[in-house]
Amino acid sequence: MVTRAIVRGVGHYLPARVVENAEFEASLDTSDEWIRSRSGIERRHLAAEGEATSSMAIAAARDALDDAGLTPDDLDAIVLATSTPDLTFPSAATMVQAGLGMTHGFAFDVQAVCAGFVFAMANADAMLATGQARRVLVIGAETFSRIMDWEDRSTCVLFGDGAGAVVLEAAEGAGTGEDRGILSVDLHSDGRHKDILYVDGGTSTGQTGSLRMLGKEVFRHAVEKLADTAHAALDKAGLTGADVDWLVPHQANLRIIKATAQRLQLPMERVIVTVQDHGNTSAASIPLALSVGKDRGQIREGDLVVTEAIGGGLAWGSVVLRW
Ligand code: UT7
Repeated sequence: MVTRAIVRGVGHYLPARVVENAEFEASLDTSDEWIRSRSGIERRHLAAEGEATSSMAIAAARDALDDAGLTPDDLDAIVLATSTPDLTFPSAATMVQAGLGMTHGFAFDVQAVCAGFVFAMANADAMLATGQARRVLVIGAETFSRIMDWEDRSTCVLFGDGAGAVVLEAAEGAGTGEDRGILSVDLHSDGRHKDILYVDGGTSTGQTGSLRMLGKEVFRHAVEKLADTAHAALDKAGLTGADVDWLVPHQANLRIIKATAQRLQLPMERVIVTVQDHGNTSAASIPLALSVGKDRGQIREGDLVVTEAIGGGLAWGSVVLRW
């Protein structure tokens, strides 16, 4: 017998304001056609003044707890993946803890940029497997609109804000690929690639800074590394692409998603795609896609789900789980 981290509930939150591609045409030398054809993005949600990563995370957390039929009292820990915390410290996770009225347990942030949710799930899985917690709320929440250079057409049209969350619960499994819960994890980073995707601010400048990206370079790494890490995670679980019900990729670019699915020999009918409506929400993109995928009736109990993501660092990885 082994301890598995099973998904007990899932939820999300998207800010009310929706910005269509065409709105950028007034202020930038860009077009709906360019954004759509190069990225697959059609619109994105942007946080209102007064909304922050923690407030969106709290809303997503409540939605996931409702779905699980649980309350904050039932949680032991909160792990929040974000690169856009409200403040440098304390962690956004502790703000969520307070916002939920939770005065026990512990909470902390994980920072692996767009791969953050995969790293946070891996962390929660390890805590559940070693008995440090029985229920962990894992959240991905981002306010990338606050780190955009709104004059840089090569980045600002690509990102959006939002939050998604899952409640993971320890359960006994047989130790086979048929178990429900997280079956395998594959994580990587390579800090040599810092300059192709970074924010040009922080304690070294005293300013929050703006996102800078060499899109073509990141694209090249993504296409190669995402399929490799998903394959590696499937191998570790003793499974193959043929076993996969749903690929739930990081939602950065439809062309990257299609190339990864092709490398995994998965038809697009088995891929959850939300990038057209959300843009790239960094660490929030996978839990948002899980939640929307469940709401659409696509992801059902017993389905084999493969998640994969890559982002600044570079950091990338994959988690294979049975829903
Ligand atoms: O989540 C973290 C991981 N991030 C990613 O996975 C993003 C990876 N990269 C990408 O998604 C793509 O590289 C982009 C969508 C960012 C760009 O697509 P691309 O096909 O690689 O285009 P490009 O950067 O090579 O740019 C092509 C042209 C350039 O003009 P020239 O040099 O060919 O004359 C750009 O200046 O498109 C121009 N361009 C734009 N034109 C209209 C760049 N941004 C825009 C824009 N509107 N918004």
